[in-house]
Amino acid sequence: MAANFWVKLKRPILALAPLAGVTDSSLRRLAKKYGAAVVYSEMASATALVYNPKATLELLQFDKSEQPYVVQLFGAEPKHFALAARLIEKKIKPDGLDINFGCPVRKVIKQGAGAALMADLKKSRAVIEAVLANTKLPLSIKVRTQSGKVKLKDFLQNISDLPLAALMIHGRTLKQGFAGTIDSAAIKAARQYFSGVILANGGINNYQDAKSVLAATGADGIAVGRGVLGHPWIFKELKNPKFKISQKEISALAWKHAQLMFKLKGEAGILEMRKHLCWYASGWAGARQQREKMVQVKTLADIKKVLALK
Ligand SMILES: Cc1cc2nc3c(=O)[nH]c(=O)nc-3n(C[C@H](O)[C@H](O)[C@H](O)COP(=O)(O)O)c2cc1C
Repeated sequence: MAANFWVKLKRPILALAPLAGVTDSSLRRLAKKYGAAVVYSEMASATALVYNPKATLELLQFDKSEQPYVVQLFGAEPKHFALAARLIEKKIKPDGLDINFGCPVRKVIKQGAGAALMADLKKSRAVIEAVLANTKLPLSIKVRTQSGKVKLKDFLQNISDLPLAALMIHGRTLKQGFAGTIDSAAIKAARQYFSGVILANGGINNYQDAKSVLAATGADGIAVGRGVLGHPWIFKELKNPKFKISQKEISALAWKHAQLMFKLKGEAGILEMRKHLCWYASGWAGARQQREKMVQVKTLADIKKVLALK
């Protein structure tokens, strides 16, 4: 294994969870700047990396300031994972690799990937073994508390002899999707079957949430997903509940985000920025009228104007 950065991170570890369509290099940089200890890429298709890698490799590029940076793969074929792991290690050179066993999206489930893969113990093991055999990078996995008949405990027992560095547990079952309470007891019990770093995930949106999840699970850290939308400074708040940010500072931050996005993706990035602007503006006075303008921006100049920046 290459240097395992996971063991060196200060506890509790504050991670930015993978969010497809959101955690690109621009957002990861901001999350890191505001205190995230480790950031994950959007999930990348192992199969696409085998057959048509160009666009996916572009998507996975990162800036040094994001490190440690973990690339997450999804798929269902051990052979594809093997090749994808090699390619990522060689071309992207992240600090870690991760496998997605939690995604509930139909398109992903239909391929037998994400949470569907978690429900297939034999294939899950084969996928993890294929990645381990083809990379020196520390490997982590992201799972749910249950998928189909397979509970977290069954899943972990099935791979307990494999040298995984970290485990992110979204504390909900596949059936629960993205709503409902987190099963802290299941996350806590995972320690009996897994000796690496454990990150608890799900519904952590403020300092109090983080404190109670850490206390109830005994996890080494937490991962924030939706709590980062329009709120990349959340990691600062998780460290210091007294941290305050003004609307002016948020506007400046949104502007920085837009500039990074434009540099990364050009005009497509401006369109992508529309949803982020609406998230940043949530809670602002007159947010509704502002959002009407935000969903129409076409240029960086439009963005500067809606953010009322001089
Ligand atoms: C828009 C969106 C995209 C997501 N994309 C991914 C992904 O690419 N890989 C993954 O493992 N989980 C993905 N997730 C799940 C999150 O990482 C996280 O587990 C889930 O949102 C629960 O955490 P939260 O309550 O803090 O949002 C996604 C969730 C959302 C809402």
